[in-house]
Amino acid sequence: MDAHEKGFFTEENSVEVVTGRNKNAKDERLKQIMEVVTRKLHEAVKEIEPTQEEWFQAVMFLTRTGQMCNEWRQEFILLSDTLGVSMLVDAINNRKPSGASESTVLGPFHVKGAPELPMGANICLDQKGEDMVIGGRILDTTGQPIKDAVLDVWQANDEGFYDVQQQGIQPDFNLRGVFRTGADGRYWFRAVKPKYYPIPNDGPVGQMLDHLGRHPNRPAHLHYIIKADGFETLITHIFDPDDPYINSDAVFGVKESLLAKFRHTRDPDRARTYEFDGDFWEVEHDFVLARVGEKRG
Ligand code: BEZ
Ligand code: FE
Repeated sequence: MDAHEKGFFTEENSVEVVTGRNKNAKDERLKQIMEVVTRKLHEAVKEIEPTQEEWFQAVMFLTRTGQMCNEWRQEFILLSDTLGVSMLVDAINNRKPSGASESTVLGPFHVKGAPELPMGANICLDQKGEDMVIGGRILDTTGQPIKDAVLDVWQANDEGFYDVQQQGIQPDFNLRGVFRTGADGRYWFRAVKPKYYPIPNDGPVGQMLDHLGRHPNRPAHLHYIIKADGFETLITHIFDPDDPYINSDAVFGVKESLLAKFRHTRDPDRARTYEFDGDFWEVEHDFVLARVGEKRG
């Protein structure tokens, strides 16, 4: 028996026997990861003591999760999202200096190649929904405006669907746009008030949520990716704090600092300048970017 072989498998020494087999792993990081995964997995199995039938159900659940995946549907990411793992990986990889805006999940509905638009453009291409104007500044952590910051924004419509979920119903690139700041660091654009929506829930992850008595909804939000030379890219959202699901986001993406103020505004003069028909919603939200290498606080 080689030194690394720990003898025959028993319930008691299961972790040592399995991890011992990886002694000659070609990749140290993989070896370390599999040591932790094996330890935690065996610990879970020992605590749960599943029946053979339950174990088979788990295997079939993962099988269906894989079978649900295709070019545009990633059921494993939805599983990671709904178990809070995506937000945990995001938190670990985006520890920010104090004052910098916080990140949250990217989600599956970002589309590369959205049109670059002039500041103030209306990204709602089908005139459906309640008008909204959104603006703010892109700043560094000392409060200085950032010029040439590029904002890539996207959102669901007021029925809770992204354009890519309603091809042929919504115009392509509806409620998407790319904006570049000037020297004042200011951005603004027009859109419609987003609404809460369910994450794709017609697969095994939706069934899991249902069995667990959980709803699949995400509170109303707008997505942002903000890039600027010399700064860490920020992937984030702003949320409507009055949304009915604000305290129970299906993917745990809400953070206190990402709650924006959505103000209902009646001002016919301003409405006219925005080419809105009547009342509108107004959101003002600044984002603060961390410099590459800036110390975390
Ligand atoms: C989204 O916000 O677009 C999203 C995030 C995670 C899962 C599904 C959708
Ligand atoms: Fe979203």
